[in-house]
Amino acid sequence: MVSGGKKLQLGVLVSGRGSNLKAIIDASETGTINAVVAIVISDVADARALELARRQGIEAVFVDPRLHATGAEFDATVVDLLRKREVELVCLAGFMRLLSPHFIREYRNRIMNVHPALLPAFAGLHAQRQAIRYGAKVSGCTVHFVDEGVDTGPIIMQAVVPVLDEDSEETFSARILTYEHRIYARAIQLFAEGRLEIRGRRVLCHGTDTLQQYEKQAWGAINP
Ligand code: GAR
Repeated sequence: MVSGGKKLQLGVLVSGRGSNLKAIIDASETGTINAVVAIVISDVADARALELARRQGIEAVFVDPRLHATGAEFDATVVDLLRKREVELVCLAGFMRLLSPHFIREYRNRIMNVHPALLPAFAGLHAQRQAIRYGAKVSGCTVHFVDEGVDTGPIIMQAVVPVLDEDSEETFSARILTYEHRIYARAIQLFAEGRLEIRGRRVLCHGTDTLQQYEKQAWGAINP
């Protein structure tokens, strides 16, 4: 439980299942993060994440890419929705589109993404499959700020997950996912507390608990 004060307004962008969205909603409802999901936006009409948000009474909007001539126009519609809801932090949660430079400029240093690998390894699609095929012994997940590149923005937090010999892409992805949910909520809370500072490529965490302590918790949880 975290202390009160004005809640950080989140906009969550999704394309699919929505387990990270659910983890964020749950964390906001239990008070683990001092934030509230103001709006959920998807580029996929029947994304399960949209249904999940609606069931929780959260505004959930499908923005149809086919009604927009370019990615930039699509993004302009999304930015407009986010602005109207006074969103302060944009969370990409399985959102499978690249953001335009306009979007990044509008929300510079206020967009986070979760990626299922230890960046900069295995960027892009099917990161868990890439790690297994490469023969990596560990991979994991990363929460990072979003810049103009593909999975290249400054890293906020990572959790390490070992690749087991018997892992399939499905079992490995499922294990990583539980850590995505944890570190995403933590990163959002650190942002809500105003403790993250971007210095070049590095994200520093101010305050009594250091980022390293958070990372140790994530590591310790899988390597007790
Ligand atoms: C998550 O594993 C997330 O890390 C990944 O998509 C999945 C979405 O699951 N995102 C990416 O690969 C982005 N490059 P969810 O819809 O259940 O949150």
